[in-house]
Amino acid sequence: MESTFPVFDPASPQAESIRDLFVQVLIISAGIFAIVSGLICFALYRFRVTEKLPVQDFGSHRREIAWMAGPVIIVIWIAVISIKLILTINALPPQYAKGGTGDDGIDIIVTGHQWWWEVEYTASGIVSANEIHIPTGKRLRVALRSEDVIHCFWVAQLTRKMDAIPGHENFVWLEADKPGTYQGRCAEYCGTQHAWMNFLVIAHEPDDFNAWQQREQQTAAAPSEKLASDGAALFMKLTCSQCHAVSGTQAKEDFAPDLTHLASRSQLGAGVIKNTPENLRIWLANPQAVKPGCKMPNFKLKDEQLDQLVAYLETLR
Ligand code: CUA
Repeated sequence: MESTFPVFDPASPQAESIRDLFVQVLIISAGIFAIVSGLICFALYRFRVTEKLPVQDFGSHRREIAWMAGPVIIVIWIAVISIKLILTINALPPQYAKGGTGDDGIDIIVTGHQWWWEVEYTASGIVSANEIHIPTGKRLRVALRSEDVIHCFWVAQLTRKMDAIPGHENFVWLEADKPGTYQGRCAEYCGTQHAWMNFLVIAHEPDDFNAWQQREQQTAAAPSEKLASDGAALFMKLTCSQCHAVSGTQAKEDFAPDLTHLASRSQLGAGVIKNTPENLRIWLANPQAVKPGCKMPNFKLKDEQLDQLVAYLETLR
């Protein structure tokens, strides 16, 4: 699923212009590398140890000026094309240009937590975690926040990198040309499980996106089956409900990922394992063994309790 070289496989106009800049700088760097290593090889060969001393030469102002000016021009050129690109990909489209629209036209609020991503859709009120669903062909304004330390939001095939900083809101534009699943990562070291702070951006055709949105807006129905309803009762009785939210129940906390549609997500623990009933059971039995240092403690649940909780959580689709 994941592209091997995502930067070279852009799926949005923004990522395409980043790829183009990257290729330009790569070509310039490769040229410099070839010239410098060529000169080193030439010098090694031409001035290899021989019987007699080569002609002693002490400096040349012309050459010194040339090798100072050359790099300065190259660095200025790279700065100009980089700044131009940054200004282009950060630019507000006309409908936002005047600003002050109240919520600044934010479509999605993404909040970094150690070590997962909270995702809120401002128009529909949907709250989810580690998965961002978007319609194709639409530029969405994403606000980036952090609950704890500095994280960095990066979907190489779709957007630039942008830090999520506590107490300061940043923005990126998120857009995908075609439907697909795009890998997102935290790109700023943020503690023990920085490596497992992944997320997915899932781009749908607009109709499919609307269907997803309708499903996701539904609150969780009370489970009818005995095992699952015992699990629901246990979920509320144990401390699960003091960190997580399940809409339509009394679990309303946002310290940990919202679980209203947990079973419809494809991964657990911000990408650490696939979301299957077996893996969910392994996770609940001891999250610390799966993702050491994560904020979910080991509740030392009994087998029977694990069965009940898994049965309940699997109803949350
Ligand atoms: Cu969050 Cu690295």
